[in-house]
Amino acid sequence: MQDKRNGGKPLPLDMCGIVGYIGDGNVYDVLIKGLHRLEYRGYDSAGIALVNPSGKLNVYKARGKVSNLEAFCEDKDLSAKAGIAHTRWATHGEPSDCNAHPHYSEDGNLALVHNGTIENYKVLKDALTQHGCTFHSETDTEVLVQLIEYIKVKNNCSLLDAVREALKQVVGAYAIAVVEKDNPDRIIAARKSSPLVIGIGDNETFLASDATPFVEYTNDCVYLKDEEVAIIERGKPLKLVTLENKEAKIDVTTLEMSISQLEKGGYPHFMLKEIFEQPATLHDCIRGRVVNGGKKVMVSGVSDNKDKFLNAKRILIVACGTSWHAALLGKYLIQDMCRIPVEVEYASEFRYSNPVLDDRDIVIAISQSGETADTLAAIKIAKKMGAFVYGISNVVGSSIPRETDSGTYIHVGPEIGVASTKAFTGQVMVLTMLALSIAQLKGTMTKDEIAEIGKAILKIPKAVEKVLKLNEKIERLSAIYTYARNFLYLGRGYSYPVALEGALKLKEISYIHAEGYPAAEMKHGPIALIDEEMPSVIIAPNDHLYEKIVNNVQQVKARGGSIIAIVTEGDPVIHNIADHVLEVPEMPECLTPIITSIPLQLLSYYIAINKGKNVDMPRNLAKSVTVE
Ligand code: G6P
Repeated sequence: MQDKRNGGKPLPLDMCGIVGYIGDGNVYDVLIKGLHRLEYRGYDSAGIALVNPSGKLNVYKARGKVSNLEAFCEDKDLSAKAGIAHTRWATHGEPSDCNAHPHYSEDGNLALVHNGTIENYKVLKDALTQHGCTFHSETDTEVLVQLIEYIKVKNNCSLLDAVREALKQVVGAYAIAVVEKDNPDRIIAARKSSPLVIGIGDNETFLASDATPFVEYTNDCVYLKDEEVAIIERGKPLKLVTLENKEAKIDVTTLEMSISQLEKGGYPHFMLKEIFEQPATLHDCIRGRVVNGGKKVMVSGVSDNKDKFLNAKRILIVACGTSWHAALLGKYLIQDMCRIPVEVEYASEFRYSNPVLDDRDIVIAISQSGETADTLAAIKIAKKMGAFVYGISNVVGSSIPRETDSGTYIHVGPEIGVASTKAFTGQVMVLTMLALSIAQLKGTMTKDEIAEIGKAILKIPKAVEKVLKLNEKIERLSAIYTYARNFLYLGRGYSYPVALEGALKLKEISYIHAEGYPAAEMKHGPIALIDEEMPSVIIAPNDHLYEKIVNNVQQVKARGGSIIAIVTEGDPVIHNIADHVLEVPEMPECLTPIITSIPLQLLSYYIAINKGKNVDMPRNLAKSVTVE
């Protein structure tokens, strides 16, 4: 039964990345490079289907990362005129060679890659089995390719017609690409709920889950809309039709991404590169939004929707993971500056919580990728209930900015490392500017108060540069703590979400258990865990709760726990108690999270490196979680 609170609509329930190419370039090379760029979407298995000029369809698959597929392909026939490929994050069926995509039809004529979930696959599978189909994998995807073949043979129709008819029978989410053995000059692709973008080059066409696989070849792309089917043919212009075979309009968008943003630029890992990019990304995020030397803050989504923000009775922020930690900071910022009540919910909980909302509520959805399934579902529910929905996202053209009524991009450039760093500080920066902009509109802060914070915002990129100078000290410090089995992260007020985020960073990439806690709440439980074996990271900048957190630092010390403290330069007390201090520049209280979170990013990075972990691709995680 479908969930009515979701508007009865199927949602994207699966992840994975897909890529396709037709043109005169080296098909295999284009596809493999594209898969590497999409590995953030999953790396349980990878596969490729190459349509050979002499009418052969070669399908190669390997369990694990794309590099395993490359090794497997070393001695294979890689000649091709067109091809499709896939990197998987397993949901239906364990990660294995046989469950890896592409899947092919029983007669071996068709190969298909899929990102999404076919919800009614069981019913379709049973029907196809009765018609004599044999299945070789446990996946929902194989059902789709078999169904297309079945329709094609039964109706003696073209591949395009068979794809359209099959998709009409499918309940669920899909981005697919299909190739045919006898036709090396054509790829059919389609989407519903899962992302798919087509890159249009000179005599070559690309398709992918996002634009990163083709950014070095072309800047012209077309984002497919739900239930559109693309006919990609060698030497012919792209054609789009609906499932009903009506021609659909082609809107070409120009990409603003550059290839250098997708490379490591001399850093050993994307995560470290992205941490060090923060002075520049924060500068880009602020540019044009804090003007007149800091006296004016301009967030166009607020000025374009004045009435909504002036009349809002409540703001609800929904997000997942790191974005949820930014959301918590958004609550402190908006309540402090705008005096509007704010609630924060995990998008995955909100969607099933039977929420009470109306048209005087504003729902802010935060998502780096703009594709997180739970956040998208939350948006759909909020819109249906009449709320004004505002998105904060990084990926231009992704689903969340397209689904929301208005919003702001954080403009920090592509984030490749699975553990979010520069997107977090960008999100917090946007939330700060958003709150200031609402406060300006509502008059809840004086001009001087706004100018004081505005001026400090303009100094943030330089302050972050200074924080990054702690790099070597943190690297040395990390060696002392690499073999801790548990960590406690403590903070109060604005530093509490920073503690949660610091703990999440460590867990994600080093697999050390870490718990973030409000420092004062520690005495109601976690204090029992403290001993010489359990270090605490305490975020204690010079703010209005400083005296209070000094007490908490004393309480940890009294139980023999070692302490790493993040403090403001010239800290009066804590540096005498803590085992190690990391000093950050003075900032107004509301801006301290951006400054204090950066040493924690570096600490988790170095601890994970010391443990020999793959920081850019931690086990079991994915960057873009389009699974429920
Ligand atoms: C995954 C990523 C996290 C991210 C979360 C939410 O878990 O690994 O880094 O914070 O999804 O993603 P979003 O794109 O919605 O911000």
